Amino acid sequence: MEYDIHDITLADEGLARIHWAFREMPVLGQLMERFTQSQPLKNIRVAGCLHITTETANLALALKAAGAEVRLCASNPLSTQDDVAAALVQHHGIPVFAIRGEDNDTYYRHINSVLDSRPQITLDDGGDLVSEIHRNRADLLKEVIGGCEETTTGVIRLRAMAKEGALKYPMMAVNDAMTKHLFDNRYGTGQSALDGIIRATNILLAGKVFTVVGYGWCGRGIAMRAKGLGANVVVTEVEPLRALEAAMDGYRVMPLVEAAAISDFIITATGDKNVIDQPHLNVMKDGCVLSNSGHFNVEINIPALEAMAREKHRPRPHIEEYRLKDGRTLCLLAEGRLVNLAAAEGHPSSVMDMSFSGQALCVVHLVENTQTLHPDLYPVPEVIDQEIASLKLSAMGISIDALTGEQRQYLTSWREGT
Ligand code: ADE
Repeated sequence: MEYDIHDITLADEGLARIHWAFREMPVLGQLMERFTQSQPLKNIRVAGCLHITTETANLALALKAAGAEVRLCASNPLSTQDDVAAALVQHHGIPVFAIRGEDNDTYYRHINSVLDSRPQITLDDGGDLVSEIHRNRADLLKEVIGGCEETTTGVIRLRAMAKEGALKYPMMAVNDAMTKHLFDNRYGTGQSALDGIIRATNILLAGKVFTVVGYGWCGRGIAMRAKGLGANVVVTEVEPLRALEAAMDGYRVMPLVEAAAISDFIITATGDKNVIDQPHLNVMKDGCVLSNSGHFNVEINIPALEAMAREKHRPRPHIEEYRLKDGRTLCLLAEGRLVNLAAAEGHPSSVMDMSFSGQALCVVHLVENTQTLHPDLYPVPEVIDQEIASLKLSAMGISIDALTGEQRQYLTSWREGT
């Protein structure tokens, strides 16, 4: 079996952590049992470009249990958990091509090693598989049935491709499922981004000015958790509705250039480029800690920061301390890559349980509906969302009420009034 990982001797450690994560993934566990019986992915070749974590390992095992032949590479050079990669290779015979800290060339070589298996299904977190197939491996297109995209950034890229008519196979926007972004983006990023900042810095957040750039679902989660830790939270936004929501949620809202001057921490959660740029860097408070929770390391203008610096130090893992020519010091976490996966372990298993159950059910949906799906970006069918929510509630021991017949009828009629 081909693979390229850091150290196979880490396999037992990885296996124990994969089992630990599985305890918090009951929905995926139930799907796995069902798929083991029904084999809906028998002999289907699946390629995943995902963060190589304990949760992704459990998704890969669920797909394998369904009959698929799975290969994995990393969707970010800094997010791979090397012990997990080793466990998948050694204990489960799943080819993995991912090494934490790999350089850009290795990252793309690994993507191509996964594509060499001629996948019929692609699983992306950020769109790099889709992009590589469309740009450089178009010969593979004829065998692809479809693909799934996990994150907001990837869905934005796919929407642009579909609009231009450039998308050549059906893709499911898993990120847009309710059971994904309402929980993973909000509670997952909320907890794991703070976890990354705290593990990296060990600085008390209570009483600090903590600015969240972008008030999408990730930004909402980060702001909520930072507030819970006693930080004085500022939100910056470009969309009036979201800015208004942030203000009414109780945060101070102001332009980033004003926030930069008073912040102890700034975190980006926008999916856009150079959000923290030269004018902001120019006015930042001495000692300000910068981090990013968006998919790509483009949200902070790092070349501008490098150009302003006199010297650079690494006081702790995951912190780069830039001593600037004007005497100030700015601290960058995790090289501006997603702080939750680079400095911590990504989202907790319990939210990934829902996100990855969505992935697994969407893969089956693609395989079962090949005849009717065309090259386009598709929403996750509502029945899949409903099923995941119901299974999660029941796994949490929560039961809910049901409408009576009279109530159901009332909601579909218009004749009854005051
Ligand atoms: N994205 C964010 N957190 C993750 C995790 N724990 N595993 C895989 N992908 C993730």
